[in-house]
Amino acid sequence: MAEKLWKGRFGEKTAPVVERFTSSIAFDRRLYRYDIEGSIAHCRLLARAGILTADEEDALVEGLHQVRREIENGDFVFDDTLEDIHTHVESRLTELVGKPSQKLHTGRSRNDQVALDLRMYLRDVVDETAAGLEELQRVLVRLSREHFEVLLPGYTHLQRAQPVRLAHHFLAYVEMFARDVARLRSCRQRVNVLPLGAAALAGTAYPLDRALAAELLGFAGVSANSLDAVSDRDFVIEFLAAAAIAMMHLSRFSEELVLWSSSEFQFIELPDAFATGSSIMPQKKNPDVPELVRGKTGRVYGHLLAQLTLMKGLPLAYNRDLQEDKPALFDAADTLLASIEVFCRMLPGLRIRRERMEQALGEGFLNATEMADYLVRKGLPFREAHHVTGQAVRRAIEKGCELHELPLAELRGLSPLIEEDLFPCLEPRAAVERRAVVGGTAASAVRAALEAAERRLGMAGGGDG
Ligand code: ARG
Repeated sequence: MAEKLWKGRFGEKTAPVVERFTSSIAFDRRLYRYDIEGSIAHCRLLARAGILTADEEDALVEGLHQVRREIENGDFVFDDTLEDIHTHVESRLTELVGKPSQKLHTGRSRNDQVALDLRMYLRDVVDETAAGLEELQRVLVRLSREHFEVLLPGYTHLQRAQPVRLAHHFLAYVEMFARDVARLRSCRQRVNVLPLGAAALAGTAYPLDRALAAELLGFAGVSANSLDAVSDRDFVIEFLAAAAIAMMHLSRFSEELVLWSSSEFQFIELPDAFATGSSIMPQKKNPDVPELVRGKTGRVYGHLLAQLTLMKGLPLAYNRDLQEDKPALFDAADTLLASIEVFCRMLPGLRIRRERMEQALGEGFLNATEMADYLVRKGLPFREAHHVTGQAVRRAIEKGCELHELPLAELRGLSPLIEEDLFPCLEPRAAVERRAVVGGTAASAVRAALEAAERRLGMAGGGDG
């Protein structure tokens, strides 16, 4: 059984059940790179402060690199009785370099150390997640270009409402993911503050140059209050909130992919490599990937709530409860990253069934608003135009036909303002092109939106769409 860092005050050995219960090495081992990088920076500060000699500094830094190599090569032995990653690194360092390692923890506590590791880890996760969400936007922009002329029904209440461009639909998700990235970038500013120097809770008693540590480790600044620095995890909560919102967006998208690939819609077909079959029903091709993204969204929501609940009753400063922040954070980050990646790879292989989408525009009176607008242009107040069109819809339902299939004479019976020139206005493409407002679905507006997205995402752009 390994020696405890804090054995001095204790007369009895820790009960094995407590070792198992309190150990975090099973999950915090993934912080090793940050823990070692942070320790190297701490060595530099100790040397500057005259606490380590140049030789001791060199020995410790070389030893820390060696520990990192061992972990990366799989040669490192993890041991439950050594509690956490901080203890593991220090204990192996002692085996490697001996005496100088006894000085490494001078002026530092595991409380500021774990806060440091966590912030460094989260900074990388935020960058990786934001990059992934940007790639996903590029995938959607390319799909939008490729299928620029495709129209499909737009829905409200999941009832066919008005025709829209498929590109407009995809670009709606581009907007959502762009806001997700903005949330992550904003959260990163509050993550990127150095807690090292807070020590256990009251600040380190040694003249350590915190600004230098911030510079060495790439932090934008240093924490202003030591009690706050070791005890709050609001930056984790912020990330989890941003992650939960991004998962919510992916989940809505997933829901549409599930619906659209059903026999009822048949708007898309998922690539074979991204669908699964049934062990009993040979005809089935199931959308398991979007279903699982939708399902995993619940996990990430759970982690956000767990973290908020974890924090709510904690008095200042550090409390061991905080160890529980990591499994939730790691799982949320892994889940979001995996979901983004699978989407990036799946979407380019979607078969877009344009004929099915456009066929769906022909049924369900998606052009009723067009008829009302036509009457408005002819001078009727909108309410009245709405009423006349409603009567026309009722006639069409009775006859089992669409609006544009009603005879002109019958339409003129409802309003003498109606003439032959109504019919071209009822075409889906005409309806789409009339919506040229900024943010609308007309070709000109969607092209402008695509170009803006391409600029923002550093894409070559161009092409006619
Ligand atoms: N494993 C601990 C955590 O994750 C590290 C800090 C331990 N500090 C302490 N005072 N026991 O929070």
